[in-house]
Amino acid sequence: MYKLAVIPGDGTGPEVIREALKVMKASCARHGVKYETTHYDFGGDRYLRTGEILPENELAQLRKADAILLGAVGHPDVKPGILEKGLLLRLRFELDQYINLRPVQLYPGVDCPLKNKGPAEIDFVVVRENTEGLYAGTGGFLRKGTPDEVAIQTSINTRMGVERCLRFAFDYCRTRNKRKELTLCGKTNVLTFAFDLWERAFNEIGQKEYPDVKRNYAHVDAICMWMVKNPEQFDVIVTDNMFGDIITDLGAMIQGGMGIAAGGNINPKGVSMFEPIGGSAPKYTGKNVINPLAAIGAAAMLMNSLGEKAVAGEIETAIKFVTGNKLKSLSAGKMGYSTQEVGDLVVAALK
Ligand code: IPM
Ligand code: MN
Repeated sequence: MYKLAVIPGDGTGPEVIREALKVMKASCARHGVKYETTHYDFGGDRYLRTGEILPENELAQLRKADAILLGAVGHPDVKPGILEKGLLLRLRFELDQYINLRPVQLYPGVDCPLKNKGPAEIDFVVVRENTEGLYAGTGGFLRKGTPDEVAIQTSINTRMGVERCLRFAFDYCRTRNKRKELTLCGKTNVLTFAFDLWERAFNEIGQKEYPDVKRNYAHVDAICMWMVKNPEQFDVIVTDNMFGDIITDLGAMIQGGMGIAAGGNINPKGVSMFEPIGGSAPKYTGKNVINPLAAIGAAAMLMNSLGEKAVAGEIETAIKFVTGNKLKSLSAGKMGYSTQEVGDLVVAALK
């Protein structure tokens, strides 16, 4: 019996999570996989009502879950940064989810903004470091609000943090398929301290522990260019927190948009959290028009992380059937179906 924590969150989060839970329930029932869910009402509404973001006692409960499913974080009436840092980043840090795993895969039937690129060309995974870098929150102001003010924000790169991320990426790359090509995305020509450490660790670990995995290096700006020009050259990309954040939004666009992009915040030995990577989409809230496939894909990733490969595989196949045979578009309001109906289509396609 798995214990799953569910955080629907802000905006359209609850709508897409409802569909993800519906699909998960149907698939798990078919495979005899048992779980119980506990819902947490974290997010903008609770913060505005009570001032609470992530109370200690509830965080303690989350630590005991087998996995977490998260909808979205971000509320139009809350100043940017408060919920993002207080909830999403705090969860990633407190639960030491040091990997952000973001598959970039173009599903059948999905419009791709790149000319002459199809599912065969767009199929790679980004392994983003998720607890360090510029996200560590190191820095501060001096003389804030005066003409002489100074703002400093420092990128933290520990040997331990970089090594564990690289090892995860090498392991993942080794078993993903037969290509076994890992690309380090950095900026060694300018960030000559941070990415010097990354590059040395990459080569040392690769040479010693993963001689069967081919190593490539590319600067982040070149990666952006190639993700558009020749995305087929990528198998697995590993990078730091900030670059990973940026290139995975580009990745989401080439796989058809935020409506389909799912990701996992992973602690390989602890509690992992899965989420659709698009935001809370306040303007679509409550309209039953947002695409739930990213959240459903996140549920599949969650099941995969628990070792329930049959459930995960079945949900993924059903998503592909729905994109390939049913939806007109992945965009909110243009799918030809409501949020709820897309969930029903996926359930119907389970087999
Ligand atoms: C993401 C988001 C977050 C991030 C924000 C909401 C803090 O953009 O998950 O990619 O920057 O990591
Ligand atoms: Mn992002």
